Amino acid sequence: MLQRPILLDIPDRLESERLWLRVPRPGDGAAINQAVRESFEELRPWLPWAATLPTVAESEEFARRSAVSYLAREAFTWLLWSKQTGDLIGASGMHDLNWSAPSMQIGYWVRTSMAGQGYITEAVRTLTRFAFDLLGAYRLEIRCDERNERSAAVARRAGFVLEGVLRNERRHHLSQELRNTMVFAAVKAPSERASSSS
Ligand SMILES: CC(C)(COP(=O)(O)OP(=O)(O)OC[C@H]1O[C@@H](n2cnc3c(N)ncnc32)[C@H](O)[C@@H]1OP(=O)(O)O)[C@@H](O)C(=O)NCCC(=O)NCCS
Repeated sequence: MLQRPILLDIPDRLESERLWLRVPRPGDGAAINQAVRESFEELRPWLPWAATLPTVAESEEFARRSAVSYLAREAFTWLLWSKQTGDLIGASGMHDLNWSAPSMQIGYWVRTSMAGQGYITEAVRTLTRFAFDLLGAYRLEIRCDERNERSAAVARRAGFVLEGVLRNERRHHLSQELRNTMVFAAVKAPSERASSSS
């Protein structure tokens, strides 16, 4: 068990083939807000925080709070930027951190104009390696509404395995109907860690 996660030395920028994954910082609010506004209809059914359109100030607050949480190692958010154009592609984050395992959940969204190009799968693969290699994680989860086929497809493409469906797990944030939740996971065996860290 990691006693003091805040002392963990981890980078605030990661790289994949086509993306920079960077921790939000003050000043990112306008770009985040523009991407969320453009994608509102696609985000709203699946993400409770996107039930209403955020203001630029709220997006800026999100960027600053995310930076603080990252530093405190309480939750991790990365903005995904195109290496080629410098445009904001979307975001991914890790929450529900359980340092005693360690285990955590990954979430993501893509800007609508950048969907269907594999960027999110690329980001999730990169963050999976980050979690296993740099955070020492043994288990990563992706949870999504049973009807969220695009999210489930990302999980499968990134190598996560469906472990089960939690029935009547929560109420949908818009309709208030009970919904089922799919739980996907990727795990690392303790023996793999021992050999990879030697
Ligand atoms: C879930 C979500 C992020 C998936 O976005 P996406 O664009 O489908 O995912 P990816 O970026 O991985 O792209 C995959 C698509 O790109 C294609 N693709 C193209 N090049 C690719 C490559 N190099 N690698 C992988 N896939 C590639 C895939 O075939 C797939 O195509 P398809 O849409 O025809 O099936 C998006 O639908 C979204 O933001 N939804 C709303 C928020 C949400 O539900 N978040 C999850 C909550 S649990």
